[in-house]
Amino acid sequence: MKCVFALDQGTTSSRSILFDRAGKVRAAAQRELKQIYPQPGWVEHDPIAIWEAQQSTAHKAMHQAGVHSEDIVAIGITNQRETTVVWNRKTGKPIHNAIVWQDRRTADLCARLKADGAETLFYEKTGLLLDPYFSGTKIKWLLDHIDGARAKAERGELAFGTMDSWLVWNLTRGRHHITDVSNASRTLLFNIHTLEWDKELLELLKIPRSMMPDVHSSSEAYGSVDKLLCECGCTIAGIVGDQQAALFGQACFEPGDAKNTYGTGCFLLKNTGAEAVASNNKLLTTIAWKRGDEINYALEGSVFIGGAVVQWLRDELGIIKSSSDIQQLAAQVPDSGGVYFVPAFAGLGAPHWDPNARGAIIGLTRGSGKAHLARAAQEAICFQSMELIQAMEKVSGAPMDLLRVDGGACADDLLMQIQANLLQVPVERPKLIETTAFGAAALAGLAVGFWQNLDEIAAHREIDRIFEPQITSDEAGARYALWMKAVERSKAWA
Ligand code: G3P
Repeated sequence: MKCVFALDQGTTSSRSILFDRAGKVRAAAQRELKQIYPQPGWVEHDPIAIWEAQQSTAHKAMHQAGVHSEDIVAIGITNQRETTVVWNRKTGKPIHNAIVWQDRRTADLCARLKADGAETLFYEKTGLLLDPYFSGTKIKWLLDHIDGARAKAERGELAFGTMDSWLVWNLTRGRHHITDVSNASRTLLFNIHTLEWDKELLELLKIPRSMMPDVHSSSEAYGSVDKLLCECGCTIAGIVGDQQAALFGQACFEPGDAKNTYGTGCFLLKNTGAEAVASNNKLLTTIAWKRGDEINYALEGSVFIGGAVVQWLRDELGIIKSSSDIQQLAAQVPDSGGVYFVPAFAGLGAPHWDPNARGAIIGLTRGSGKAHLARAAQEAICFQSMELIQAMEKVSGAPMDLLRVDGGACADDLLMQIQANLLQVPVERPKLIETTAFGAAALAGLAVGFWQNLDEIAAHREIDRIFEPQITSDEAGARYALWMKAVERSKAWA
């Protein structure tokens, strides 16, 4: 049985999934990733643990499916974007933990750059805003704070990468230091119009050009896995940021096609075709993917805490044992009983962009219980997604009449029903919610001729269920108004 392997390196877990030619999952293995919080607002990952988790889940999936390396026609890599690792080219060792996209340590630097009037320059070139979310200021922080790092970087001894680059470097044992346009477009250093690292922005952040990976398309044979790791040297043929991968996996190939992914965060992306559409509404302009000479752009709304709020209820409050228990707990009450939960643990992303916002729970009464809190957490995921959708509608002027969803948390029927209720539009869930992994597999499979064209990819998408709104628009509007009040109270806190 021939398969494509998707390596999906996400924020909270590393996964390896094998897809057959019919686009069906033949095996999947997953390992949760330790989150490191050295200070409030800081989030790190151990890059070595990430590499080990990716190898062990890959072996596990192959073992499960009884697949050997000669059966793997291509590997597609998809990853949490922006998370920044810097390593020594000679030893291959990271100089520090990876700084995760949710990390807020560079908020002051971003504020200073904004005060100096640099935001327009960054936005015009990269489509991004000056927020600690993106890699650029994280690289600068590492060079400024790790002993000897800047001197080494200036001598060309250090390499920067997002998780895709880090995995490719390790898979090829240092032969390839590369990334793709979709990941490059999240660094704050890549010019999305010329498709090059931008000299002026690199100089502004004092980052040597020599640290940066070579930028490729999202679908081509980049190189093969080192023979010491895999005897028949499987071809790596797809690299794409996870949110763009989900857009591809949902077959959103035409301008106007959009999806919302419910993962650690929530990410609404809308394909804008060959045109990099500017947003007047604090959405990001980003690269979706590049195949051959064809580039596809997208508009993006990013929410930092989506499914992660459920993990917080599980790990920090202990009111549920496993993430999937939230549905049952939240279903014990008909609504949140007036409780509003703004999970701004990592500040607020689109459309607010406030790195200093912090989490808030408001509206508690003596009768509020854990079921109300669980329900408020679910509603928060949906309200935040609504904010993205409304911002997107303002940019395009066209109302969204159906929401395509994917990602782990969308398996929760109650969550999807709440989303349809609050949004007042139907929510469409596909059978395969692992669209991120499938998108990466599809880009890799297309590059090596395992699949021939986009129609073949689209044919693999089947609808599981459509959730229709079940409350009135007046009720939805009233709840949304209270949500917005709660959001205002969480702002500018840190
Ligand atoms: O931009 C961050 C995003 O790529 C994280 O995705 O799937 O880990 O929530 P995920």
